Amino acid sequence: MSAAPRVLVIHGPNLNLLGQREPGIYGAQTLAQLDESLHALAGELGAELTCRQSNHEGVILDWIHAAHGTADGLIINPGAYTHTSVAIQDALRAVPVPAVEVHLSNLYRRESLRQVSMSGVACVGVIMGLGTASYHLALRYLVAEHTARPS
Ligand code: DQA
Repeated sequence: MSAAPRVLVIHGPNLNLLGQREPGIYGAQTLAQLDESLHALAGELGAELTCRQSNHEGVILDWIHAAHGTADGLIINPGAYTHTSVAIQDALRAVPVPAVEVHLSNLYRRESLRQVSMSGVACVGVIMGLGTASYHLALRYLVAEHTARPS
């Protein structure tokens, strides 16, 4: 495929507090710094990147729906909605855009309630526990997958 892959990043609830929120778990980087690093990587990879954050489930659903036809890949960290949201799972299933679920922390090393992902089952893959590198690896994957996709 020749056109630059368009990748949408959706950060879910409480991720606007990165840097100040439980830094021992989520790291010291702010959301703005994370997004800046993703934009830098997207530039290197020749991808068009849009990053959004919301604390509201319905807003996240609307962005997933809008990805149909406007994005070639989706990176989503649904935050706590990961563990509860059938609606996000349904939206990801409804939209034919490959999605990678990412988490900063390793959910398998945390409370049992975090070891279930409602949304991960609707994604092509899940990357977790690598801090902000979870997002970077997802971006590299989606760009490579798009490039390899038959046009
Ligand atoms: C998180 C893990 C979730 O359990 C938590 O509710 C978050 C962040 C992560 O990136 O590690 O908000 O998605």
